[in-house]
Amino acid sequence: MPYFKYKGIPFSTEFFSEETLSYVENDFQLLDDDIVNAVYPKSGTHWMAEILALILSHGDPSWVQSVPLWERAPWIELDHLKIALKKPPPRLLTTHLPFQLFPKSFLHSKAKVVYTLRNPRDAMVSSYHFIKGFKELKDPGTVEEFMERFLSGEIDFGSWFDHVKGWVEMKERANIFINTYEELQQDLRGSVQKICHFLGKELNSQQIESVVENASFHKMKDNKMSSSSTTPENIFDHTKATLMRKGISGDWKNFLTVAQSERFDDAYWKRMHGVNMTFPWD
Ligand code: A3P
Repeated sequence: MPYFKYKGIPFSTEFFSEETLSYVENDFQLLDDDIVNAVYPKSGTHWMAEILALILSHGDPSWVQSVPLWERAPWIELDHLKIALKKPPPRLLTTHLPFQLFPKSFLHSKAKVVYTLRNPRDAMVSSYHFIKGFKELKDPGTVEEFMERFLSGEIDFGSWFDHVKGWVEMKERANIFINTYEELQQDLRGSVQKICHFLGKELNSQQIESVVENASFHKMKDNKMSSSSTTPENIFDHTKATLMRKGISGDWKNFLTVAQSERFDDAYWKRMHGVNMTFPWD
C-alpha cells in the first residue's frame, strides 16, 4: 500500500491527498461554535465522537441511533470534508491530524477541541488488529515489525510521540480540553461532566446518565450507526477485523513479550522526556 509524505508525515494514498491536507491546514475555516474531536488513531475517536454527539443532544440517543458517526462528526482530512463543509453550525468535527497540520484558522477562533489520548501500547495493539481489516492497507506483519513502525512513526498520521507532544503543548489554551481513554474507562460520568463544563453545556443528572449509558461499549457495539459496520465492504473486510474489538485498557499485556515491552518502555521514556504532563499509564 503506497504512502506519501506531507510535511514529513506519512499518509496512505488510498485515503488521503496532499491537496486536501493542504486545504485543511491552510484554508479550512473553523467557526467559533465548532467542536472538534481530535484523537491519534485507535485512541478513542469513535467513543469521544459518540459522547460529544450525545452531549449535544442532551442525552437523547435518537441522533446517534439514526445517523452514521462519520456523518455526525466528519473527519476533516478525509473525503468526509465535503460533509463538514455543508454542515450548518454548530458543527461537530473529527480529526486525527497532529497539531502542526491542524487548520491554522484555529489560532484565531473560539472553536473548542477535545483531545483524547490513550496508552500508546494499547493504541498500537488496537491499530495492529484494525489494520488487518483494511483491504488496501499494508499488512501489519508481526507484532514486533509493527511495533518498530509505530515507534518510528512510519504509519498514517506519523509518530504518536510527536502527535501527543504537539497537542499537549497547547494545553493551556482555554479552548482545548485534554483527556484520556483511561479516564473515560475509570469514571465515564465524571469525564462527561467535565466535558459538559468545558463545552458550556448544562445537562441534568438524568441527561448525563443517558450519555453514560448510550456511550457504553456494549451500546455502541450494538448501534450500527456507531460501530464500523457502516464502512463499505469494498474498503473493509469485517470478517478480519472490527472497530469495537475489546474496549479495555491494558490489553497490550496480552500481546507484548517482556522483551518487546522493555523495548517499548525504552523508546517511550526517551521520547517523552520533558513532556510536562503525567498520564494514567506512567
Ligand atoms: P480496542 O481495539 O482496544 O478494543 P478509535 O475509535 O480511535 O478507532 O479507537 C478504537 C478503540 O476504541 C477500540 O479499542 C475500541 O474497542 C475502543 N472503543 C470504542 N468505543 C468504546 C467504548 N464505548 N468504550 C470503550 N472502548 C471503546
